[in-house]
Amino acid sequence: MKLTPEERKMYSGGYGNAVQTAMEILVALGEIYGAKRMVPVASVQVSGVSYHNLGDAGLEFLEDLAKDGKARVLTTLNPAGMDLEDWKHLGISDDFAEKQLRVIRAFAKMGIVVSCTCTPYLVGNLPRFNEHVAWSESSAVTFANSVLGARTNREGGPSALAAALTGRTPEYGLHLDENRQAHVHAHVKARLESTSDFSALGWVLGKKIGNRIPFITGVKRASVEELKSLCASLPTYGGPSLFHIKGITPSKPKKPKDMVVITQDDIEEAYAALNEDEDAVDFVAIGCPHASIGEIRRIAGLLRRRRVKAEFWIATARQTKELADRAGYTKAIEDAGAKFACDTCMAVAPLRGRFRVMAIDSAKGCYYARGSNNFKTRFGTLEECVEAAVSGRWASFRKPRKKGASSG
Ligand code: F3S
Repeated sequence: MKLTPEERKMYSGGYGNAVQTAMEILVALGEIYGAKRMVPVASVQVSGVSYHNLGDAGLEFLEDLAKDGKARVLTTLNPAGMDLEDWKHLGISDDFAEKQLRVIRAFAKMGIVVSCTCTPYLVGNLPRFNEHVAWSESSAVTFANSVLGARTNREGGPSALAAALTGRTPEYGLHLDENRQAHVHAHVKARLESTSDFSALGWVLGKKIGNRIPFITGVKRASVEELKSLCASLPTYGGPSLFHIKGITPSKPKKPKDMVVITQDDIEEAYAALNEDEDAVDFVAIGCPHASIGEIRRIAGLLRRRRVKAEFWIATARQTKELADRAGYTKAIEDAGAKFACDTCMAVAPLRGRFRVMAIDSAKGCYYARGSNNFKTRFGTLEECVEAAVSGRWASFRKPRKKGASSG
């Protein structure tokens, strides 16, 4: 790789141990993937924050880097393993909390913003079209590439942290024009009208097109919440970290000749696969990816003057929760017995063995609930999930739709 004089100084230790380690990681990565040079990045999103996943080895690696490492660009953090201010109300042990707080202190010492959210784009880390960034967290990476038109590979925690400490990333993969073209035309002939429908679309696309980048047609409208839902499920179920939707996302690739059609039956198949035959629900989670203020507003409206029977978590960024506090949504939600889980989520918190059946509107959430926590899952709309929280039972009022209905 060709390095600039500044990058060579980083590589040879002229800026200290942490920067040298970081540059070594990036050069090794660049050489593996055939990058010719580094590109400066405008921002970084770092995953691998939960002590649950890091363990003691990860904690020591971070504390070592924090001795002399400082972020050179705006860097935000993915969810941690607990609510950083009020972990007790989520049933997290003090031992776990002590280790998790050490992880957070190491990141903060490196000048990293302790945002602890997988939706950095909702709280101020918002790259523009064509800007190079180095993000980890598959849903955020896919949102940055597809919805914002920024350019990032799907970084791991260490390579994203290395980009933060150097302000650079190797130029390969989705940083290059030639790798951002669509490979397959995916025409949607199904009605999509909720976050769970878009989440189901990601499940279907992952199965049908694998890692090929789709140019999607037939989708006439999509809210930011629906797009973030699709961005979470598509890479989780084997799809790529970039898609284009005609008339909705900003890039304008050529329409590929190879075509697949997504039918209403395909969407129904996703709902069937993500739902297990369980009536009683003891855990409901909304906010995968982290809930927007709009979603919290809807939940507050649905819960007003009601009580929940199941444990109900709303995972969100702390900054978003502060908006909910001011708007009165928090009071309506907490009066009903539901809880905010700020800074964390149901996938990275240590929840194994605590619940049996989880209801959620996210296909990605189902994947982690089953894989990491061994929960059974119920998958449906946000409204169905709220009703499950109130009654403690699953009742689907989403009607399977007729074949061939067009999107709208
Ligand atoms: Fe975010 Fe956790 Fe889902 S990191 S995308 S809420 S699994």
